[in-house]
Amino acid sequence: MTDLFSSFRLGGLKLSNRMVMAPLTRNRAPGGTPNALMAEYYSQRAGAGLIISEGSQISDQGIGYPATPGIHSEEQVQGWKPITGAVHAKGGHIFVQLWHCGRISHPDFHDGELPVAPSAVRPEGQAFTNTGLQDFVTPRELALDEIPGIVEQYRHAAATAMQAGFDGVEIHSANGYLIDQFLRDDSNRRSDAYGGSVENRVRLLLEVSKAVCAEIGADKVGVRISPVNAFNDMHDSDPQALFNHVATALSELKVAYLHVVEVSMAGEVDHAVDMQQLRRCFAGAYIANGSYDKVRGNAAIASGAADMVAYGTAYLANPDLSKRFLRDAPLNTPDQSTFYGGDAHGYTDYPSLGSD
Ligand SMILES: Cc1cc2nc3c(=O)[nH]c(=O)nc-3n(C[C@H](O)[C@H](O)[C@H](O)COP(=O)(O)O)c2cc1C
Repeated sequence: MTDLFSSFRLGGLKLSNRMVMAPLTRNRAPGGTPNALMAEYYSQRAGAGLIISEGSQISDQGIGYPATPGIHSEEQVQGWKPITGAVHAKGGHIFVQLWHCGRISHPDFHDGELPVAPSAVRPEGQAFTNTGLQDFVTPRELALDEIPGIVEQYRHAAATAMQAGFDGVEIHSANGYLIDQFLRDDSNRRSDAYGGSVENRVRLLLEVSKAVCAEIGADKVGVRISPVNAFNDMHDSDPQALFNHVATALSELKVAYLHVVEVSMAGEVDHAVDMQQLRRCFAGAYIANGSYDKVRGNAAIASGAADMVAYGTAYLANPDLSKRFLRDAPLNTPDQSTFYGGDAHGYTDYPSLGSD
């Protein structure tokens, strides 16, 4: 029977199991450069069939939080190399998540300039800045002639990721960041070729995906979406139609996987979405995420609802999650107070099972 512990062929990679470590921002890269502590953290979790790195900004313009790593400079390449090397040395695989935060940022990160977005629509809520929480500002609407430059940032970051030794990239099109801001009609009020109809709102994601696929090969590219996630003040009037279109268009580009956050991380959902419709629209691998445990994960794979299952907080707190699932061992409890920022405590000191 196929389950979480069955191997999986993803593009050219043979993954040892179907458990994915979900992308988890941990704010432990001061200055944006990955470091030795991060190498230890990821290497501890190399038993996952696939690790998706924390969101990593593709440019200085893409930053939205303190101490997040980047994937666009030579120094960052040198910082990532020991991380990808350590994961590979343990037989694991790792993709980097390409991140542009758009309006979920603050002028403090941009020398006082406004963050950019599809439209000048201020999200409700507050930004995490280097000096604490501050209200979100109304972002600056990107001019039409700036959009090719955004696509180029993603292409460049994908090329940089290959130099850093990643097995592939995940385009972050979820959770209210720049590409998601283009997708959903509450944050995108444009009247040009990038706003209005579903086709227009999906255009940026497809241009980015095409550029990244042309750079590194579609078999090394995944896309993450979150059709019902209200986190970061996101809303859409018809997410089923929007995301069915996204899944169909990405299928035509032959990207390796579609990674779907199936839950809302904040607030009530505006409209229910049938995730299995997305699965049927998409020919590649489907990674399910959101409040899965071992039983639900195995059931999703056995029924064919998903090819792989991504675990977020469970991987954060259990470096050897696949081993624990296999043995039905108890799980460590995640400590929320150490999620974002800090040192090794709550990061690399969650215990593993004995090596017996
Ligand atoms: C501390 C923390 C950091 C996160 N950072 C990211 C991120 O960088 N990129 C992303 O796409 N999702 C991020 N997420 C969302 C997780 O990937 C995942 O979707 C969420 O935790 C739900 O999965 P779970 O129920 O298995 O934890 C983060 C979640 C947490 C708790």
